[in-house]
Amino acid sequence: MVDATAPEERRNLSNPEDCSREARRILQDNDRGGYTVPSPALYPFQWNWDSCFVALGWATFDEARAWQEIESLFNAQWPDGMVPHIAFHREDSGYFPGPDVWGTESLWDGSLAVQTSGISDPPVAASIALKLWRGARDRDQAQAAAERLYPKLLAWHRWFHSARDPQSDGMVAILHPWESGRDNSPDWDAALNPVPTDGLPPFERRDLDRIDADQRPRHDQYNRYLSLILSLKGAGYEPKAAYDASPFKMVDIGTLSILRRADRDLRHLAEDLGHKDDLAELQDWEARGDAALDRLWDEQAGVFRSYDLSAEAMSDSATSASFLPLYAGNPGPERTARLVEVLQRWTERTAYPLPSFDPGDSRFDRLRYWRGPTWGIVNYMIAEGLSENGHGEWAARLARSTADLVRQSGFWEYFDPISGRGLGGDRFTWTAAMWLAWAKHFAED
Ligand code: DGY
Repeated sequence: MVDATAPEERRNLSNPEDCSREARRILQDNDRGGYTVPSPALYPFQWNWDSCFVALGWATFDEARAWQEIESLFNAQWPDGMVPHIAFHREDSGYFPGPDVWGTESLWDGSLAVQTSGISDPPVAASIALKLWRGARDRDQAQAAAERLYPKLLAWHRWFHSARDPQSDGMVAILHPWESGRDNSPDWDAALNPVPTDGLPPFERRDLDRIDADQRPRHDQYNRYLSLILSLKGAGYEPKAAYDASPFKMVDIGTLSILRRADRDLRHLAEDLGHKDDLAELQDWEARGDAALDRLWDEQAGVFRSYDLSAEAMSDSATSASFLPLYAGNPGPERTARLVEVLQRWTERTAYPLPSFDPGDSRFDRLRYWRGPTWGIVNYMIAEGLSENGHGEWAARLARSTADLVRQSGFWEYFDPISGRGLGGDRFTWTAAMWLAWAKHFAED
């Protein structure tokens, strides 16, 4: 297994100043010239939502570089508005599935500026762009960058609200677990079962060259991930054909919440920049998002859940994404209070919250990626939501938990919520960015 920093070189991270120096160094080391890779050996390309969170880290010491991070992502945007989850800027055989598997090269008459995957990612970009814009020290630079980005963001949101919501009822679907960013979450277990795996071509996973298998998705899930890619590719990635053909159609409570907030934040950007003609369309999306979120509330359990459109059934799990409607906006005081009760129960069972899955569920697995570990970026979004919904103390607890994890273990991709041990990729870019932009302000002496 690769550990990017040998222990003797590992810097003392108990001091917040040293932590910040190391976090900046991680961003610089993982910079490939205009975009930042999440982890050079494990994820050697540009990832969509990673880049957006990472822009917040860059903004703490290099505003121009922060804008460039997002703009480089949008260079990979498809003509139909979709922004892919991976932009393969350079060749690298160390990752599966690479561009040959996705086969997007010949799309759009071969006119794509960069080879890409064929699915999208949680649309955090508009929310991050609004933060960069409103917090910018260099106003001229921000004005120019925000004006360039705005139509691209609008086109991406239009794609979500049409390609992935053909009924126009707000139930925006993801067609692959990777589109949620929470690849092996128990949210997808039941929906993945019927995905066919017969006759798949042989393939070699590369993630297991670098990370212990008990921290990564299982093989049967990888078979299904590949099968779903081949189904989308078979439909030529044409939105209607892909939607109809996909055996996996989930309304992910995480993506839905992130999109709901991003629609609102894009409206704020439109207002600030004077794009009045778009406001009605944006408000319409917000209303649809609210209606869909309302349908995903489980009154008995006191949490929000994802929804399987194919099986017409709620997912049977409560995951960290169940709290993201707090980030979406305002779930109302009663629902917020119920969510905080569940938060309280989960944190009583884990020293380093927030676990990505209910620690009381028999499927909870403290090591395995999105089936238990704590993730800094999710803590950040939930904390934003908690503080905006009147629970500042809870928001601070999640921030302190994230800061403690970094200082105790380092900048890992994710963490064991019980011991605090670092898991997945080391010197991970978005964890460094979350430290710089957020958690460091809550580090205690
Ligand atoms: C992976 O390869 O593990 C990614 O999460 C998919 O984008």
